[in-house]
Amino acid sequence: MKTYRVAILGCRGRGGAAARAYAVHARTEVVALCDLLPERMHALGDELGIAARYGDFHQMIRTEAPDIVVIPTATELHYELSMAVLEYGVHIDVEKPICTDLSEADQLLSLARKKEVRIAVHHQGRSGAAMKAVKAAIAEGKIGQLRSVAGSGKGYYAGYGLMNIGTHVLNAMLGVVGSVRAVTAIAQVDGRPVQPDDVLVAAGGMGYVVGEDITAGIEFASGVQGVHLQQRFSSVDSRAYRVEFAGSEGRLLWRTDEAWLLPDPHYVPGETDWQPLPISMPLGFDPSGTANESEYSYVDDFVCALDTGTDHECSGAEGLHVLEVLLGIFESAATGRRVALPQADRTHPLVRWRASTGMEPPQAGLRPYAEWLREEDRRLGRL
Ligand SMILES: NC(=O)c1ccc[n+]([C@@H]2O[C@H](COP(=O)([O-])OP(=O)(O)OC[C@H]3O[C@@H](n4cnc5c(N)ncnc54)[C@H](O)[C@@H]3O)[C@@H](O)[C@H]2O)c1
Repeated sequence: MKTYRVAILGCRGRGGAAARAYAVHARTEVVALCDLLPERMHALGDELGIAARYGDFHQMIRTEAPDIVVIPTATELHYELSMAVLEYGVHIDVEKPICTDLSEADQLLSLARKKEVRIAVHHQGRSGAAMKAVKAAIAEGKIGQLRSVAGSGKGYYAGYGLMNIGTHVLNAMLGVVGSVRAVTAIAQVDGRPVQPDDVLVAAGGMGYVVGEDITAGIEFASGVQGVHLQQRFSSVDSRAYRVEFAGSEGRLLWRTDEAWLLPDPHYVPGETDWQPLPISMPLGFDPSGTANESEYSYVDDFVCALDTGTDHECSGAEGLHVLEVLLGIFESAATGRRVALPQADRTHPLVRWRASTGMEPPQAGLRPYAEWLREEDRRLGRL
């Protein structure tokens, strides 16, 4: 059986999480690291015992001939770096969201097809054991017929939260419910409907966003209905990040590492309680090691997909569809109209919205989230 050679392009937090999982999987070997900042690369290389270290990813790919290049870098670099790496005809594992713009994501998928390689988009929660437990429970009929699905973010400023966390929430929904045919959304800033001058360049390179609080209705092609909430809270809380699947006879609650069953379609406190679903660790995974289970399972899914010449469940096409949903939510919030997917116009809907009132795209603000948020609160006259 082939061992896939993996190179990591970017050695900060996400590069480290991916490298630890690829390093312990029996069918993948991390052969090289690359970062513009040598201290990050050396810290990760020393931790995992990886000797081949580069400052230039072109040189790394030419020298090491990897099968997979992992691209765990800031979101605004995904397009440029992915295009450059795909040119070498290697598979890529790019962090989420795939890009910030549909036309860029389209170009990535087109180049991958031309080069006959695969794109995986790093939504590891969809591969994890907790999600597998949810899918098994649905297949076993534990909640009867699936009726609706509801997911929420962590309490970030909604537009930013949608791109950052909503991408995971929606990807998790797609894995169970299938594709989306249309979205309808409302977005507010300061309790009032959003206006074109509320469009911002998000923190962290997440592209153009709008809305402090967003509520989106999602029509799945299967007829299942969904709702996605991104509401700004005074502090960010990971416990709020969840998806709930409601069926005719019960409910399932998924959080990245947990799955719960309510054997009743309606939750009445004190009557029926949520029960934890048993979660089976993947074969070959050592829970006492430094790799995270869902990261390991995501790697495992990539190995299986490449072995069989198929796409990862979190493929480039799925990553693109998630982006269609995200940008469809922004478009619906801006225009007040239902947005059918996939969009014929691949330009950014918020840039189009601004242009329709004679406005240029907004200028980039501060990059770190906390500072960006303070700047926004100042714009809204709160500070
Ligand atoms: N999947 C998840 O659960 C999850 C969680 C958090 C963040 N993310 C995503 O991860 C990404 C950010 O990851 P991060 O915080 O580790 O990134 P980061 O931007 O902080 O670090 C990226 C590293 O890549 C290096 N780099 C950038 N360009 C390079 C180049 N041309 N050559 C060599 N090295 C280069 C940088 O020096 C840096 O060390 C975002 O896309 C974000 O959405 C995913």
